[in-house]
Amino acid sequence: MVKMMKDKLNPDKLPKHIAIIMDGNGTWARRRGLSRNYGHRKGAIVLKDIMLHAAKLKIKYLTVFAFSTENWKRPQEEVNYLMNLPKEFLNEYEEEMVSEDIRLHWVGSKNRLAEDLIKQIERVAERTKANKGLTFTIAFNYGGRDEIINAVNNILKEGRKEIALEDFNQYLYSQELPDVDLLIRTSNQVRISNFLLWKLAYSELYFTDVLWPDFRPKNFEKAIIEYQRRERRFGGIK
Ligand code: IPE
Ligand code: IPE
Ligand code: MG
Repeated sequence: MVKMMKDKLNPDKLPKHIAIIMDGNGTWARRRGLSRNYGHRKGAIVLKDIMLHAAKLKIKYLTVFAFSTENWKRPQEEVNYLMNLPKEFLNEYEEEMVSEDIRLHWVGSKNRLAEDLIKQIERVAERTKANKGLTFTIAFNYGGRDEIINAVNNILKEGRKEIALEDFNQYLYSQELPDVDLLIRTSNQVRISNFLLWKLAYSELYFTDVLWPDFRPKNFEKAIIEYQRRERRFGGIK
């Protein structure tokens, strides 16, 4: 009984920004004798559930890794499928985002992305930009190193010779996002894989062996409860 009470989520100590590396779609599908693309399709449905649950819990920022700058290395058929998923996601869940007060945001490079995909993301982002609940960010064609190099090149283009630490953020794709408080990675892979490098500096890291297509709101809450047990120090002492 006492233990159950301790394991409750504290609504007053929520992480402001949660980021997720949604991994394990391929493994999930392979174990069932299904195609990798089927795993990605299931993963998109799970993502919708987690997005809605984060909004319900009143999380302010949720950022999910959907396609990395390194994922172009995959077979063309899988890349094509992944390129199409954000469109399907938005077609299916745009109205829910509107009604649940969710603001859509995107971080990543436009390089190699189809014009119609960018247009659709920008249209939904524009339509939801006044929403005050969850900011839901899709990291798509995103790489942490690419983001930093892109920032540096933009600084150089302005003819600047030096940049202050606190001014660097404004050059990042993720400039609108606060630092990540909690990073979740599924599928028992314990690495960062070039996600949000700048914003992960002091994040609490949570790894689970649950595969992304099996990830449920209760798993999400479990990660938040674990986060709430951690003592964050930021280099200081208590
Ligand atoms: C994550 O699942 C989705 C993307 C990287 C787009 P994976 O496709 O990486 O699944 P595994 O790692 O092969 O199981
Ligand atoms: C990270 O997963 C990228 C996304 C979840 C979109 P990967 O499956 O691509 O990462 P690695 O290759 O195992 O490091
Ligand atoms: Mg993977």
